[in-house]
Amino acid sequence: MVFKLKKEKIIVTSALPYANGNIHLGHLSGAYLPADIFVRYNRLINSDIVYVCGSDEHGVPITITADKENLTPQDIINRYHENNKAAFEKFGMSFDIYSRTSIPTHHKTAQEFFSSYHKQGILSEKKSLQFYDEEAGMFLPDRYVEGTCPKCGFEEARSDECERCGDLYDSSELVNPKSKISGGSPQLKETSHWYFPLGKYQERLEDYIDKANTKFSWKNNVLQYCKGWFQDGLKDRAVTRDLDWGVKVPLNSSPDKVLYVWFEAVLGYISATKELFKNTEKPDEWKKYWQDENTRYIAFIGKDNIVFHTIIFPAMLMAWNDGNDDKFVLPENVPANEFLNFEGKKFSKSRGWGIDVNEFLEIFPPDSLRYTLAANAPENKDTDFQWKEFQAKNNSELADILGNFINRTFIFAKKHFDEKVPERGELEKIDEDMLSTLAEAPSKIGKLLEQYKVKDAVSEMMNLARAGNKYFNDSEPWVSVKTNKERTATTVNICLQTIFTLAEVFAPVIPFSSEKIFKMLNIEIGDWNESGKREFKVGHQLNKSEILFPKIEDKTIETEILKWSNPATFEEEVEEEEEQVPEITFDDFMKVDLKVAKIISAEKVPKSKKLLKLKVKIGKSERQVVAGVAQSYEPENIVEKKVVVVANLKPAKLFGIESQGMILAIEDETGKLNIVEVDDNLNSGLKVR
Ligand code: MF3
Ligand code: ZN
Repeated sequence: MVFKLKKEKIIVTSALPYANGNIHLGHLSGAYLPADIFVRYNRLINSDIVYVCGSDEHGVPITITADKENLTPQDIINRYHENNKAAFEKFGMSFDIYSRTSIPTHHKTAQEFFSSYHKQGILSEKKSLQFYDEEAGMFLPDRYVEGTCPKCGFEEARSDECERCGDLYDSSELVNPKSKISGGSPQLKETSHWYFPLGKYQERLEDYIDKANTKFSWKNNVLQYCKGWFQDGLKDRAVTRDLDWGVKVPLNSSPDKVLYVWFEAVLGYISATKELFKNTEKPDEWKKYWQDENTRYIAFIGKDNIVFHTIIFPAMLMAWNDGNDDKFVLPENVPANEFLNFEGKKFSKSRGWGIDVNEFLEIFPPDSLRYTLAANAPENKDTDFQWKEFQAKNNSELADILGNFINRTFIFAKKHFDEKVPERGELEKIDEDMLSTLAEAPSKIGKLLEQYKVKDAVSEMMNLARAGNKYFNDSEPWVSVKTNKERTATTVNICLQTIFTLAEVFAPVIPFSSEKIFKMLNIEIGDWNESGKREFKVGHQLNKSEILFPKIEDKTIETEILKWSNPATFEEEVEEEEEQVPEITFDDFMKVDLKVAKIISAEKVPKSKKLLKLKVKIGKSERQVVAGVAQSYEPENIVEKKVVVVANLKPAKLFGIESQGMILAIEDETGKLNIVEVDDNLNSGLKVR
């Protein structure tokens, strides 16, 4: 389908994730899914829009990962760039390009910016003392140095600031400094760096944000953040580093320095756009999206990136614009999101908490995840990803409301109208009401999407499906089909129109399913502004229907809950089935604290088929243990039993209930669990070995 494009151009960017780890659900819900929904919507209203992203491939942490694994930084970034690119693709991210900051185009672009500032005399060179790690052969960034606070004696104080007493001091005053990289004692060594005078731009930045906010209403969380920075006062910022991994400083006098990663990464948006058009007939086309004053620039990020996108990047663009004829647009809006947590805790790669997107999408369809994350977007406060909620969103909303409405309509069309769109008879009030609901829905939803209110938009989308179901129920086609086929025809016709509109308005959120629905309807997606009004021709042939949203079984979710409540244990269990059980030493075994315990109470865990919540007594102390034995034991038959518990198992939450241990049980050939029972005259608290 060919669209006539609107004049106005839009450039959309999502934060460039570090190629130093796998992206997780938190990333998706903060900076990626909201942007993708916005972009897909804009394409449907014919905006001339370009959406770019890519890997952020420099910075110290990448070099440290490389050292740890005995690989080169290039190996590390290649690995994670490919992983993340694949994950985004499976998730349905519709970037026009997923670029990377290690490409020559990027290095050249970043160097041009630096050179322009240097030529304009904006940058100043300053000498300073910095910790140098002799063993690692590198200058240490602040967060890799730790020592004793000169004031309060706190032993884990940072290089220039104590977290305990809040004192700020000079690095040279830090007592007993330690390198977090080699463990050795770093020495202060003189070096010089180039500084960008952020403070000089403060007034212009405040003015810019003020104007942009008045015109485009920025989010409150973002404004608050900026206000804090302005109140503290912006200071000069070093924009170079002593490292060999990164974009080289384009000055002969600074051969061993690279640009500070944040100082060049934000320019990655521009270099990615250049890369997008590089091998086309119009390699200069990128300029239209960055240097045309009518272009709208929207930057999607998570809250940890706010200062870089509302203050540093705009100041950098202002500084460029001051000295060059080709002037860049500044962000019209930076709709940063708060964070998504995972079952109540922060995602953390190092602690193994969170779920890898590639892995997730091997088990669950992308649209179920997109829908859940969108409905639960952390727009104004942190939100939480919970397995049970994910299952409920899929089963009771996507399947039971949207899927069910489509399914029952198709069944009727097949059974009574030969899989064709039947002709409407005379309209009654109920039909007219439904038709006007359809006509209004797209613009109502569109407005919310334009204001970055994804959560509200998604709830309106599902409300339209609810309205469809209600219309179907109230019209009672199963009754009319026996007495008044013309009424049935009207109902089915309008239900099919409703599905048509649903497929269109849901397209930005669940693109894979929307495409399937269009295929079932045997029609192509069209212009958003026409949707709700575009009508089928009478007799239009439909295609076979298919199940759109299979239900997610309790079993599947419980496996995931177990796996993620204690990832390490789960991996061992899986390996056990496939491989030989590895040998352990006596010491390994003795690490497990096995104790005799007495079960003193038991109750079912609501909504779980497998779990019982138990209170057990170990000697004098009491604990709560959640055990997966509900299919073998009724609560009343398990109380009073003497059992063996693993008493030093790290506590975990199952269905939101804390479990402080595990009960030994034997799994028989049928999968039934039999608790290992202990002779009643042995006291609870005794050690088992
Ligand atoms: N790599 C950063 C992060 O993952 C984001 C960089 S955004 C950019 O937090 F604009 F600087 F590229
Ligand atoms: Zn202190």
